[in-house]
Amino acid sequence: MTPTDKLHIHHEKLIGTIRDLAERTKSDSAEASLLITFSSEYLLAHAEAEEVTLYKADSDTEFVDNMVHEHRKIKEALEAISTAYSKGDSAGIVSEMNSFMALLETHFEEEENTLMPKLSKMIAQQELESLIVEAHQIESEKKRSDIWSLFEHDHKRIDFNISPLRKSSAGSDAAGTIYSKVRGQLLKHIELEESVLFPSFVQHASPGQTGPVQVMIAEHREITALLIAAGDSKDAASLGSTVDALVGKLATHNKKEELILYPLIDRTLPAAERQMIFKECFDGFASV
Ligand SMILES: [Fe+2]
Ligand SMILES: [Fe+2]
Ligand SMILES: [Fe+2]
Ligand SMILES: [Fe+2]
Repeated sequence: MTPTDKLHIHHEKLIGTIRDLAERTKSDSAEASLLITFSSEYLLAHAEAEEVTLYKADSDTEFVDNMVHEHRKIKEALEAISTAYSKGDSAGIVSEMNSFMALLETHFEEEENTLMPKLSKMIAQQELESLIVEAHQIESEKKRSDIWSLFEHDHKRIDFNISPLRKSSAGSDAAGTIYSKVRGQLLKHIELEESVLFPSFVQHASPGQTGPVQVMIAEHREITALLIAAGDSKDAASLGSTVDALVGKLATHNKKEELILYPLIDRTLPAAERQMIFKECFDGFASV
């Protein structure tokens, strides 16, 4: 397999997942949380690794400057999706996402069809092969594995989906479908916190640091009780009031996790552990 083939396979793996997430986002803009967190973790690390390996080996500085500029554009496009997401602007999410996808597809093509053939002429095949290996290593080290951002985005996804069930918009024909989706996502979120994230933190933290975990677990029981009560609601009005109570409870619970616990977890866990947890929890969030 040539170095270009290896890069192509790696690109296909990245963009294949991103294309799937983009499709999901088109039919439900709340799913942009998955596209944002996946790309921030895997794509940005990929770009950073290229800049210090493959791009550095290319003596055509004008071309390299342009490629680095494209990395910056891709990062800005990702931030623009994030901004639209924070505003709950569904049309904005999709239009920013389309620009992001177009930039990414063109950029990957340029790397495979222009950069790699150029490098193949400039440097020996063996040297190019070791650059690809080095790029992979650096890419793995550059992953941010930001637990705070991953879990905060999942909070946002649940908030996004739950809002049509609130008292102010109760009576939606799709209430049953929306409720099942929210229920699945919220239970998965709690399950991953209690079975993956918190146990790992408790293992690495000093005994004095684990108090907030017990508080969060106790609050999860209150959240689950409200979720079940919402499912048992007999009419739109009682569903609306119970969901309002649930949203209120989630707001204070999530704030505590985002302000105290997640930052503490990011500071406490070793990078390799955070990488594993990031992957497992991302896959779990994406499964519902
Ligand atoms: Fe690149
Ligand atoms: Fe690339
Ligand atoms: Fe929680
Ligand atoms: Fe949470």
